[in-house]
Amino acid sequence: MRGRASAPGSSGNLGPGFDTLALALELRCVVEAEPAEATVVVHDDGEEWCPGDDEIVARAVAAVGPPMRLWIRSEIPRRRGLGSSSAVAVATVAAALRARSAPVDPEEVFRVVAELEGHGDNAAASVFGGLQAACVGTARRLELHPELIPIVAIPDFELATGEAREALPAEVRHAAAARSVARAVFLVEGLRHADAGALRCARGDELHERPRSGLSPLTTRLVEVALEAGALHAAWSGAGPSALALVREGAAAEVAAAMGRVLGPAGEVRRLAVAAEGLT
Ligand code: HSE
Repeated sequence: MRGRASAPGSSGNLGPGFDTLALALELRCVVEAEPAEATVVVHDDGEEWCPGDDEIVARAVAAVGPPMRLWIRSEIPRRRGLGSSSAVAVATVAAALRARSAPVDPEEVFRVVAELEGHGDNAAASVFGGLQAACVGTARRLELHPELIPIVAIPDFELATGEAREALPAEVRHAAAARSVARAVFLVEGLRHADAGALRCARGDELHERPRSGLSPLTTRLVEVALEAGALHAAWSGAGPSALALVREGAAAEVAAAMGRVLGPAGEVRRLAVAAEGLT
């Protein structure tokens, strides 16, 4: 029997919500699975690829049972900070369970994928949709003002999350931690009400955006120009190199154009819908 599941990509962190906040975006990954002798991914041309044990799809299958043959269709650009690995892991876990007629408990899928990834922000958004906060083994949906529109600038180069995590310092100073807590609190309040004043207080992340800036100065520049052009909030999307802007309709065209001018032909700017629905 074949099991099928779909999960959205996401933008993690949203600035000060490092490893905690994520917004699900309407770019989906669909996975079909059926029991097999060994875990393989079947490409469009019928060729089969055996993922290594450390690949996210192999780990997702192994986390919930025996090997599977997988068909994966994803609209989510890989290694751009748009939650592609979480989405494929979430959809793979659910499809593999369905292929064995096993029940799919979204809370359990979230816990499995958060554990596989080592952080739960993207997993929460991919499983539950909308704006999510993730803590150890627990996720909660947060309110996002309905007039906030995501615009994403996606550079055409890749940045692996593992590499971006290595750029983070092992320790942060107490004062920086305190400023980060304040930014995160103001961000959540600002996103709920589309409150420009609160969102202004949420800018300037020191926990991950500043330490990562050397990996992709372009991302830092995209965030700056989005804010200058009228975005209410802008941040690195996950570990980068994409940047996310949240805008009201009136500023959408100008923000997209400003990000597009910085990106030039080396990438694309997309206006996306929030994925209200996560795992289906
Ligand atoms: N919170 C993760 C990180 C997101 O910043 O490393 C990865 O997409």
